[in-house]
Amino acid sequence: MKLYESQTGAETLPACGSATVKCVEHDGSHLVSHSEAPLFSREETQAIIDEAEERAERMGGWTTQRHANYATTDVPVQELPRTHEWFREKALPEVLYPFLATSYKDILPSTKALKVVDAFVVKYNATAGQSFLKPHRDGSVVSFNIALNDMSEYEGGGTWIARLVKDSDTGSIRSDRGHVLAHASGMLHGGHEVEAGVRYILVCFVILQSFANFATRFYQAVRDEDPPELEPMPPGIVLEALEGVDVA
Ligand SMILES: [Fe+2]
Repeated sequence: MKLYESQTGAETLPACGSATVKCVEHDGSHLVSHSEAPLFSREETQAIIDEAEERAERMGGWTTQRHANYATTDVPVQELPRTHEWFREKALPEVLYPFLATSYKDILPSTKALKVVDAFVVKYNATAGQSFLKPHRDGSVVSFNIALNDMSEYEGGGTWIARLVKDSDTGSIRSDRGHVLAHASGMLHGGHEVEAGVRYILVCFVILQSFANFATRFYQAVRDEDPPELEPMPPGIVLEALEGVDVA
């Protein structure tokens, strides 16, 4: 059974508020795309949090060991029936695939072949469980996350991207509720530490079906362009980890 149908006809769908606010050049185009306005409502995002927390309550907690090397406190979307249906039937075809197609039309050989291979809700909690995710690369072509709660509900947090360190103090992009942040999966990135409160996101990995050779070349090219001085990084995405790095 297919968990998520692949995209069809993305090029013909209208753009959906996907103006880029953070750009990283790659062969004349950009690798990071952040929605200019929220793409999902308060009701939609809160429903995901509520269903994930209801499940955790029922099951005795969130799972923490699903991704072997980079464990997150998370729950797979397919284990949340209401969220799964909304994601598959509405969010992906009407909003997310068009957002990705618009964002990456100049980079990808086909945006019709976009296909989600994994999706899960992650909880970063400053005082319990996971508060950050150390630097890593995802094994897909593009990754994105949907911010599920208000930025005012936590301090710190955000998606840390190594090559954005030169553009900001922390290299982290903070997203308010309903926004989507996408990036090439091969970029060195992580979850910036949540210093107070709780942050929820829905994380998703996307491949290009039948473009395995492209995916390999793309991943390598993206990885090769990361700033070498940021590898290896010490564990954790705390500000101290970036001290001593020449970001000029
Ligand atoms: Fe990741």
